[in-house]
Amino acid sequence: MRAHDITLSDLAGLPPIPSAAQVASATLPVDDIQGDILIGMHKLNQLFLFFTINDPATFKTHLANDIAPIVASAAQLSNVSTQPLVALNIAFSQTGLTALGVTDNLNDAAFSAGQVNDLTNLGETTDTWVPAFIGTSIHGVILLASDDSSLLEQQASFLDTTFGGSVTTVHQLEATVRPGAEAGHEKFGFVDGISQPALNGFHDPLPGQIVVDPGVIIVGATNDPIARPAWATGGSFLAFRQLQQLVPEFNKFMVDNAPPFEGKTLAQRANLFGARMVGRWKSGAPIDLAPLEDDPVLGADPMRNNNFDFTHPDSDITSDQSHCPFSAHIRKVRPRADLTGAAPTNTILRSGIPFGPEVSDDETASNTTTQLRGLAFVAYQAQIAKGFQFLQRAWSNNVNFPPRKNVAPGFDVIIGQAKNATRSTVGLDVNNPTAAISIPQQFVVSNGGEYFFSPPISAIASVLAA
Ligand code: HEM
Repeated sequence: MRAHDITLSDLAGLPPIPSAAQVASATLPVDDIQGDILIGMHKLNQLFLFFTINDPATFKTHLANDIAPIVASAAQLSNVSTQPLVALNIAFSQTGLTALGVTDNLNDAAFSAGQVNDLTNLGETTDTWVPAFIGTSIHGVILLASDDSSLLEQQASFLDTTFGGSVTTVHQLEATVRPGAEAGHEKFGFVDGISQPALNGFHDPLPGQIVVDPGVIIVGATNDPIARPAWATGGSFLAFRQLQQLVPEFNKFMVDNAPPFEGKTLAQRANLFGARMVGRWKSGAPIDLAPLEDDPVLGADPMRNNNFDFTHPDSDITSDQSHCPFSAHIRKVRPRADLTGAAPTNTILRSGIPFGPEVSDDETASNTTTQLRGLAFVAYQAQIAKGFQFLQRAWSNNVNFPPRKNVAPGFDVIIGQAKNATRSTVGLDVNNPTAAISIPQQFVVSNGGEYFFSPPISAIASVLAA
């Protein structure tokens, strides 16, 4: 008999999971907030079930009687003695709320329109989208998480039987923590999930961590300026993206295009090139602190690995890319000292997890992707237009961001999008940082997604299923 059910354990380099005592003393309604938002289920294997409601009345009965009682809260997930065998969270799209007869306006235009109507902001077309995401017929998503993958399928078939024909699963995605030493690394090989905002009054901030009012992430919490129905307090908008990663192609590009660097081998130059695209080495060590050599001890130390802001003594932040390029992924999506005085409201809590198999020997040998893999990207925020959508549109896709530099920074090579056109960026060659480098291909390809609202648990039975 297992002493407890799932084991949410800390991964090297990532902020530690808030303790049960810390969660218990929080001023936020931690029994009502779904666990993935505050605790993160991405440290477990997951199954995402995207569904359409066929029979609202029958679905509501099951939602109230069978689902609401088992939705895992933040409090429940933070405590080993209350963690379930399989954790379940649920979120609804605008069309899902409408199907349930919920007419209250959640006052989030991107959510109401659906992600398929946000293509211009995202800089993409639906050419590479999973068909199920094209349109607005996905009504919701169930997130299942467990450290035992076989239980995910069992729970999914139990749900299938429970719901009967009242819903149809129109798309599903299985995501897993990568094996062995790669646990916590995304598919290109970099540790993911290091830098997250700390919520005032909930997290104990780590050095360098951005601190925001809870209302930046949690609807209706302190300093959420938007008028919302009272029942939505404690919820959060979930931006889901299925992002395919062309790993062999990315690796080949690194090797073929790594800038020259005296004294470094080709493999070292390729690693440096990739680290400059991300802003961190694969170990998680930030290149702002370790510009030329990886420092795995730094990467694994949450007290140091996020404690930087791109400023350096005797250095000019408008022109110095000797540490971190202006276009590095982490600098594009969180500019730190590049934007002085800005309120840190453009931030998200990320709970993404890799999906798909490890790269096969054949794929490595042929430098060609033949199996679908990538990142099941999950971002929580209280306003999509200030969170995910803003980071993608106004920063990653914007060649002039960060502003006030001696050269236009160019695209975020990892996620910047230009409707499949060739992208150009600067700063990747440490010895020639103003030189433009042309990126002929997207290594991260959008398979689409949807915007959801992850409701407070209390509202599931009392409002959504009423
Ligand atoms: C497959 C696609 C992606 C990959 C491979 C990727 C990879 C990474 C990695 C390796 C880090 C550094 C470690 C960390 O701090 O967690 C990071 C940070 C981050 N990423 Fe991504 N990412 C992807 C998509 C996105 C998207 C779509 C967004 C939002 C539009 C995003 C927003 C962020 C943010 C906000 C950070 C933290 C930056 C900081 O505070 O320093 N990422 N990502």
